[in-house]
Amino acid sequence: MPPATPRPDTLAAPRLSLDAERVLRLAAQSMFDAFAQAAMGTLVVDREHRIVWISEGYKSFLPALGFPSERDFVGRRVEEVIPNTMLGQVIETGEAILVDLLSNHAGTFLVSRLPLRGEAGEVIGAFGMVMLDHPESRMQPLMQKFARLQGELEQARAQLAAQRRPKYTVASFIGSSPAALDVKRAARRVAQTGSSVLLLGETGTGKELLAHAIHAASGRAARPFVGVNIAAVPDTLLEAEFFGVAPGAYTGAERKGREGKFKLADGGTLFLDEIGDMPLVLQSKLLRALQEQEIEALGSNRVERVDVRIIAATSRDLAAMVADGQFRADLFYRLNVLPIRLPPLRERLDDLEALAEALAEDIARRSGLPQKGLTPEALDLLAAQPWRGNIRELRNVLEQAALMTDDAVLAPAHFAAALRLQAGHAAAAARPASALPDTTGAPALRERAGQDPAPRPPRAGASISLQPLAQQVEDVERRAIAAALQATAGNKLAAARLLQMSRAALYERLARWPELAQARGASDSPAPG
Ligand SMILES: Nc1ncnc2c1ncn2[C@@H]1O[C@H](COP(=O)(O)OP(=O)(O)OP(=O)(O)O)[C@@H](O)[C@H]1O
Ligand SMILES: [Mg+2]
Repeated sequence: MPPATPRPDTLAAPRLSLDAERVLRLAAQSMFDAFAQAAMGTLVVDREHRIVWISEGYKSFLPALGFPSERDFVGRRVEEVIPNTMLGQVIETGEAILVDLLSNHAGTFLVSRLPLRGEAGEVIGAFGMVMLDHPESRMQPLMQKFARLQGELEQARAQLAAQRRPKYTVASFIGSSPAALDVKRAARRVAQTGSSVLLLGETGTGKELLAHAIHAASGRAARPFVGVNIAAVPDTLLEAEFFGVAPGAYTGAERKGREGKFKLADGGTLFLDEIGDMPLVLQSKLLRALQEQEIEALGSNRVERVDVRIIAATSRDLAAMVADGQFRADLFYRLNVLPIRLPPLRERLDDLEALAEALAEDIARRSGLPQKGLTPEALDLLAAQPWRGNIRELRNVLEQAALMTDDAVLAPAHFAAALRLQAGHAAAAARPASALPDTTGAPALRERAGQDPAPRPPRAGASISLQPLAQQVEDVERRAIAAALQATAGNKLAAARLLQMSRAALYERLARWPELAQARGASDSPAPG
C-alpha cells in the first residue's frame, strides 16, 4: 500500500492531540482503501509522473491499453502509457479534477484525479480513479433522464417566453391616417424612455393594445408586462392587489401571503388600466410608490425596492377630475409626463378599410372560418356610423355580421341586424343607469355612459331584485334570446350564432318558452343575404 496520508492541517485545526492525529491518519488510510475498492481501478503516480502502484481492479484495463502485464506498466511515466491522462497536470497545479471523461484507444472512462501531499503540504504525486468504463452506455439511464429533463426545461422556457412575448407590437396598431401615424410615432418615442406614460382616449380606441406595444418596443420587452384593471378590482382589495400581502398577515386563503402586481412587474412594465377609477386614498399610496420606487406589502414593515415603468390609461377626463377634486393633482402630473391621446375612430375614418380588413382577418383566424370581404357599399355604411365604442365596437359588428351568414362577402344587408343591436346597446348605455343615489359612498366612478357598446351590469344599489338567482338568470336568458330573434328577424340559426350558443341549446330554451319561438314565426334557415 502506498503512503496516502494527507496533511492533518489540511483537514482540521493545526494543533491536534496525538490521538486525534492517529484517528485522522487511519481515516485517510481507510478512505484510500475504500476508494480503491469502490472504484473500478485506481493508480498512484509520484512527483516525477511515474506510476508507482495500481489496484487489483486497474489490472483489467492493461490489455486494452496495450500492456500484457503489470511489470511493463508500473514504473513508466504516466503520459507514456495512458494517452490523454491529466494526472501530470494535477501534480503540477496541485488541484484536483473531481470528475472528467478520459477518452483514448482503450475506451472512454469516467475518472477522478486528486493530488497527494507530503507532511509539509508539498505535492508528492497524484491519485487517479476510474469510476466507470463505458460511461456512454452504462450511464444511459442517467443520460436519458438528463436529456429528458433538459428537454422539459427548454419547453418550459419556450412557453414562458411565449407568454411573456408581447401580444402586440406598434405594427399591430392598424392605421396610416395622420392621426394614427402620430400615435405610432409617439409610442415608439416614449418606448425609449423610462418615464410614465399616460394613454388617453375613448373606450375601444386601442389603449391596452398600445400599452402592450410600448412595452414590446422598450428595453423592458424581455421582462414581464403586468396589467391591473382598476375598475375591475373592488376598492377594498386594490391595495393588496398592488402591493401584495405579507405571509401571516391574514388567516385563511391569504395566510401564505401574495405578491402584488408591483412586485410581479419588477424589471418590466405595470399597466394601470382605468386609472381614473382609482380611489383617492390609494392614489396617494400609488404616488408614493412611484416616487420612491419602493413598496410595502400589507402587514409587513419592510420596504422593498422595485423597478417598474408605469403605463396608465383612462377614458375619463383626468384633468376635469383633478379640477373636481376626484383625482390628485400631484399624481396626475406624475403620470402625465408623456401623454398620448388616441383618436376616436370617427376622427380617422380613412383607416376604416384597413382596420376592417385586419379585424376580419383576426376574426377568421380565431373562429376558424374563412375570412369575409366587404362590398364598397358596406364600407360606406360602416363609415356613416357614430362608432361610440370605436374599434371594439367595429370589431363586434364585423364579428356578428360575419357569423350570421355563410356568404363570403358582406354587403350592407348583412350589417342591418348587428348595427341595430349595437344601437340598442348604445341607447341602453346612454340611459341613466338608475335614479337612486349611489349608496356605495364612492363617487360615480364606474360610469362611462354613452361610450361603451357592451351591455353593463346594473350598478350596485340600482335595480337589482332579490329574486332567486336561478330565476334572474332565466329572465336574462329569455330577454337575450328574444332580442337575438328580433335582431335576426326570427332566424334561429343566426340567433344561436349571435349568442354564441349551440342550436340545440337554443331549441331547448325555445321548447321551454314557446312564446318566444311563436312570436315571430321563427325560421331555421341561414340569415338572408
Ligand atoms: N389601431 C388598432 N388596430 C387594430 N386593432 C385595434 C386598434 N385599436 C384597437 N384595436 C382593437 O380594438 C379592441 C379594443 O382595444 P383596446 O382594448 O386596446 O381598447 P381600450 O382603449 O383599452 O378600450 P377601453 O377603454 O374600453 O378599455 C381590441 O380588440 C383591439 O385589439
Ligand atoms: Mg382598455
